[in-house]
Amino acid sequence: MPAASLARLFSPARIGSLELKNRLVMAPMATDYAGEEGRVSQKLIDYHSARARGGVGLIIAEVTGVDARYPYIPRTVGLWSDELIEGYRRLTDAVHQAGARLMPQLAHPGPDSLSSLLTGLQAVGPSAGTVNILTRTACRELAREELEQIKAQFAETAHRARQAGCDGIELHAAHGYMLLGSFLSALRNRRTDEYGGCLDNRLRFPLEVLSAIRQRVGRDFPIILRISAEEPVPGGRSLRETQYILPRFIEAGVDAVHVSSGLYPELSWRVIPPYGTPLALNASCAEALKRVVEVPVLVVGRINDPRLAEDILRRGEADFAVMGRALLADPELPRKAAEGRFEDIAPCIACGLGCVAARERGADMSCLVNPRLGREGEPVPEPPAAARRVLVAGGGPAGLQAAWTAAQRGHRVSLYERGDRLGGRYLLAARGEGKQELTRVIQYLERGVRRAGVEVRLMAEVGPELLRQGAFEVLVVATGSEPCRPEWTSGSGPEVLCALDLLAGLAPWPSGRILVAGGGTVGCEVAELLAGREGDPDRASTAVTLVEGREGVGLEMFSEARVLLLQRLRSRGVIILTSTKIQGLSPEGVIVQDAGGRRTLGGFDAVVLALGARPLDGLSAAARELGLAVHVIGDARRPRQALEAIAEGFAAGQAIG
Ligand SMILES: Cc1cc2nc3c(=O)[nH]c(=O)nc-3n(C[C@H](O)[C@H](O)[C@H](O)COP(=O)(O)O)c2cc1C
Repeated sequence: MPAASLARLFSPARIGSLELKNRLVMAPMATDYAGEEGRVSQKLIDYHSARARGGVGLIIAEVTGVDARYPYIPRTVGLWSDELIEGYRRLTDAVHQAGARLMPQLAHPGPDSLSSLLTGLQAVGPSAGTVNILTRTACRELAREELEQIKAQFAETAHRARQAGCDGIELHAAHGYMLLGSFLSALRNRRTDEYGGCLDNRLRFPLEVLSAIRQRVGRDFPIILRISAEEPVPGGRSLRETQYILPRFIEAGVDAVHVSSGLYPELSWRVIPPYGTPLALNASCAEALKRVVEVPVLVVGRINDPRLAEDILRRGEADFAVMGRALLADPELPRKAAEGRFEDIAPCIACGLGCVAARERGADMSCLVNPRLGREGEPVPEPPAAARRVLVAGGGPAGLQAAWTAAQRGHRVSLYERGDRLGGRYLLAARGEGKQELTRVIQYLERGVRRAGVEVRLMAEVGPELLRQGAFEVLVVATGSEPCRPEWTSGSGPEVLCALDLLAGLAPWPSGRILVAGGGTVGCEVAELLAGREGDPDRASTAVTLVEGREGVGLEMFSEARVLLLQRLRSRGVIILTSTKIQGLSPEGVIVQDAGGRRTLGGFDAVVLALGARPLDGLSAAARELGLAVHVIGDARRPRQALEAIAEGFAAGQAIG
């Protein structure tokens, strides 16, 4: 029985002819988990099956290609040929068996194809010139005969989806992006024939695609249209204009509307909104669109809690709540919600570190709070031969996850934290503007640790003496890192402070002219806090300069979060100097080296150091000598982000035999 407060979320509903058991939908998310040549892989099946078992009603599977020559990502799932139907059916069958429904999101990536890199073909679009950010090449304009071919490709692909047992399809026309979105967008569609120019003309090709699909699949195969409610930038579509075009899509055979917002690249933060942006940020737009259509409305975007989803439905803002990253974070979210176990849900904090940023660096998709993402099919390791006595030194994210995982596997675990609370450095990361929700991660890990029966000791530092007492067989070193303090900081000059000390409240907050040394995440966020908000008493008397040796700042951040942070830094008047290396201090100021040579930046009252960290591991050598099994994880191994710390904690917890 669903928790009474979520009665609407867990009530059945229909999309066209399709009956769904609840109103929770999984958003399409490109995973790069496909096999060779667009085939469905076992990994993709396992990933989706886990979400279906977790209780979601409908899965909109990731962008699925209609033409092999134009892949969206390196491993794009395809239904572009009949021989792919059987493999796709394995996915549909698995999802059905696990109790959910599945619709692929059909798309031709158009200007956003990686074809120039992967198949050697120039990408195509409504008109020439849109430059793909990744390939840095421009698309060419599609000829009219090609438009006819693409309509047929969409129609055949939809038909194959039906043959593969899918419960319908989603047509991707959102985000001023890919082919259909590009036709709709005045920023990309510069055609001068009847497919370009005014809004009605730009609508023509998507509508023709829809009609072609309808003719091929019949009236009773559900079609969802994904669309941006608004693109509030010059040249973007307004909410009012979307209200105008939606009824046309419904007339042409759309059974439900899936409301997102924003467009690439100008408003990408509205597409995948980072922490600090409003929750349910598209709900009011969805409500406005719901007023002009009779079909069900789905809404997506920062709906990370089932109670919020319920609230949206009860207010009548939408008929279905769509979750993307929240279901990466916890595939069991629907089941836990139905059982009222809200605190057990792994919280999506919209950090984008694993699902987006890591992939931009070429790694597999991962998730900060779900180390099992992408490994759903891997066997759970055998239970350990014996329950070991495990000591975890350090109660930051790495230590917490290691302790939890080890205890869940039956080990007797003690966690020692030298501070007076759990969370370590990560609590300081949550001090950044708009980042308070990061603390949910610590609350979640702490709850897991305590429920798993870990003995937690605060204000307890592990030293060699404790190890010598012989109470433990395994030591997990999760003692974190300490800030780097280069030699030049000892020179005479402005006062030198440490960014982390400021965040921790251990040093007085400076004012006046401040130079922040280091433009990684910490440096950027401290610079923002120092520059202050409108109305802060010290704001007028504070001027901040951020100095970074690399060619950009916030480079390791989720790009959507970085875009917003940079906007805020600019609006607060922070001066950003990149490709500028600090060489030393002098009584006149800070000596730097940049493309123009060596010079002194004068007039600073304080220098705030945010130059990274170095590992803090004073235990592993002694522990090994004493014969303990030792695992060094997180920053104590090598300072990085919580994503890696938690992943290593999980791996260590699993490895203890
Ligand atoms: C890793 C990832 C991949 C995505 N891939 C797609 C996609 O293939 N098609 C699409 O329309 N949206 C895609 N999106 C956007 C999501 O569908 C969703 O609209 C967005 O993440 C906001 O919802 P959320 O806050 O619940 O995550 C992707 C988002 C993420 C995080």
